[in-house]
Amino acid sequence: MAVSSKQYLIKSVTFISISKIMEKVLVTRRISDSALALIKNSGYDTTVYSELKNISQEELIDMCSGHIGLLSVGPNKIDEHFLSACKQLKGIALMSVGYDKVDLEAAIKHGVPVSNTPDVLSEATADTAFLLMLSVARNAFNMHKSIERGEWNFFDPMQNLGQELYGKTLGILGLGRIGLEMARKAKAAYGMDIIYHNRNRNEQAEDEVKATYLAFDELLTQSDVLSVHVNLTNETKGIFNKSAFEKMKPNAIFINTARGAIHNEEDLLAALKSGTIWGAGLDVTNPEPMQKDNPLLNMENVCVLPHIGSATKETREKMAMMAAENIVAALKGDRMPQVINPEVYK
Ligand code: DGY
Repeated sequence: MAVSSKQYLIKSVTFISISKIMEKVLVTRRISDSALALIKNSGYDTTVYSELKNISQEELIDMCSGHIGLLSVGPNKIDEHFLSACKQLKGIALMSVGYDKVDLEAAIKHGVPVSNTPDVLSEATADTAFLLMLSVARNAFNMHKSIERGEWNFFDPMQNLGQELYGKTLGILGLGRIGLEMARKAKAAYGMDIIYHNRNRNEQAEDEVKATYLAFDELLTQSDVLSVHVNLTNETKGIFNKSAFEKMKPNAIFINTARGAIHNEEDLLAALKSGTIWGAGLDVTNPEPMQKDNPLLNMENVCVLPHIGSATKETREKMAMMAAENIVAALKGDRMPQVINPEVYK
């Protein structure tokens, strides 16, 4: 049916006025359609940055223009400079549990609520820590590479020997939600004894997995496997350095699925080369991405993954939905369910 020019005009005027009033959320990476639909169905338009490259802070500032919400995926720095340049933002939802790239004080000062995605990724991230623990104990990544090198020629009962985890001691730095999940798995699979160090005692874990609280130095000296699950803060930055590695057992396996800057990479490499510790499993590196000529990649006793802690379809879906719910709440003027700077509401 032919549409009159008057009808066209009405349609385009309606379209212009709707698109004018649709406020927008910038999403800094591709996320699930259902999470985008949640934002759109709540009355907000979305701009999705779908190029697969890192975004500089200046690029992010430019992109944020015209948007009142930011759903930040990846290590985008949210600091005073960013917040002063993006004063129109009414909320920032991170699609991560870690928030070391956010200056919370600055966000409070600017009155911008920020949220993260806790809980939903604890199991997947603990799976990654567990995978690394077992892979390092049995030199799994290097065994795979040795076949590619054509080294599987005969059976030698004294070759390719790993170490067992049964009845060993798992030390956890940061026994929170992810650390407890890791402790549960290690206890169920290998009956490992659990020791930990935290800022605050975790009574639930002490009860459930019989975790014993120790001072940090004792954690270092007593762990057969030491798995890191703390946030990156000024206090934890570089805490695994030469002096820490020197206190660890020669059979110790160091696992880091938290943040790369918690260990000093040069000191870790030296500790591995000298046999000060037995092996390392890293899901996080410093810097990220790790370069392909990094010497850690060629060490027999090291397994490295490209920061895939929470990377399962199910978990990423839950994280995207949680971030979407949070940004919508902020834009509607409601309290973000997973707000990490609740002071903004006071
Ligand atoms: C997290 O959620 O913090 C992961 O490490 C991804 O950054």
